Amino acid sequence: MSTIYLDHAATTPPLKEVYEAMKPFISYEFGNPSSIYSIGKKARAAVEHARRQVAELIGAKPGEIVFTSGGTESDNLALVGGAFAWKEKGNHIVTTAIEHHAVLESCRFLKRIGFDLSIVGVDSSGIVDPDDIRKAIKKDTVMVSVMHANNEVGTIQPVAEISKICREREVYLHTDAIQSVGNVPVNVQELGVDMLSVSAHKIYGPKGVGALYVREGCIVERLIHGGEQEKGLRAGTENVPGIIGLGVAARAANSGLEQRAKRIAFFRDTLIDGVLSTIPGVYLNGHRQERLPNNVHFCFDGVEGEAVCLHLDAAGICASTGSACSSGALEPSHVLLAMGVGYELAQGSVRFTLGRDNTIEEIHHLIEILPPIIARLRAMSPGGYYRPGTCANSLCNRGTEK
Ligand SMILES: Cc1ncc(COP(=O)(O)O)c(C=O)c1O
Repeated sequence: MSTIYLDHAATTPPLKEVYEAMKPFISYEFGNPSSIYSIGKKARAAVEHARRQVAELIGAKPGEIVFTSGGTESDNLALVGGAFAWKEKGNHIVTTAIEHHAVLESCRFLKRIGFDLSIVGVDSSGIVDPDDIRKAIKKDTVMVSVMHANNEVGTIQPVAEISKICREREVYLHTDAIQSVGNVPVNVQELGVDMLSVSAHKIYGPKGVGALYVREGCIVERLIHGGEQEKGLRAGTENVPGIIGLGVAARAANSGLEQRAKRIAFFRDTLIDGVLSTIPGVYLNGHRQERLPNNVHFCFDGVEGEAVCLHLDAAGICASTGSACSSGALEPSHVLLAMGVGYELAQGSVRFTLGRDNTIEEIHHLIEILPPIIARLRAMSPGGYYRPGTCANSLCNRGTEK
């Protein structure tokens, strides 16, 4: 079997139609969209077409889409640009403990320069309680940022419920929808958000390009100064090929989305059931229902996630671990720690994120090769043996090691 790619939350392979649409704009269609002659106008028309495609995917108006250099910039523009724009109204921001670093670090930057920050926790399945958001909002709160779906454990947050609270309290709401867009239907009207972040490379588009939805009437401060591109919100000559790639990826994401999500969810459930029924001492992280159709996230007791991933790589399977290497040590994920997963167990985390080209045969192959890998690693480790009941999460297999 050739490589089995199960890390679509990290990045996705660009679609052929994305690449084909971008190609002319990397070569002979090189005009600057701000130029007034015809090759410039052609580039402008292509950029505006892409804007309509992205808007259509999320139920927005084209004029509400700002192209950026990716998800990270979209999050920074929303958080920092929003906070700067509304600082006369108040200086308090609310976010959650399981956000991506693009949001958390933007918030920490704001805190360093004098903004007030509240970080709301989650339950053991990784879900934010809207009531906790309500309680965190103060008189001087200007913005709440809650991600739509978590990039590690795949939990889908009750953003529509949170938006009702934000509306009542007249507070802006941003959501990082980078992992949900393209995997589940996302509509800015139904979610009731003021800003929403998108990244092209998570939806089979190119890297280094993204978008921020900014609701009409919601003013944010620019972070990149210079020309008047993107209605003055993001200076710099547009990444024309990237934007075109994002537009085509958005169109493709929109087509057959629900059927695709259903098929992938079936693969997800096959993988979850297969692993939980064959490997003892394994815990499924995240919510069983309120999760992305393509996300499977386990903690394997008594092994390191990184070792599992390296063994899987040797077997031709790409998956990722939740631990990040910092100063030479493996730091467990802040998301798992926020969910109450123990420090040691969190180091045994492995994430599989499925995509549109995976097959059921690939899933069965993984279910077959994973148990001997885990058994081998446990036999090698000094702790060696998993300890039943080490996790607060109820979605676990408490069988005994054979
Ligand atoms: C939830 C979430 N937010 C933000 C980002 C950053 O996006 P980008 O890689 O486009 O900068 C990612 C990427 O992994 C993500 O998963």
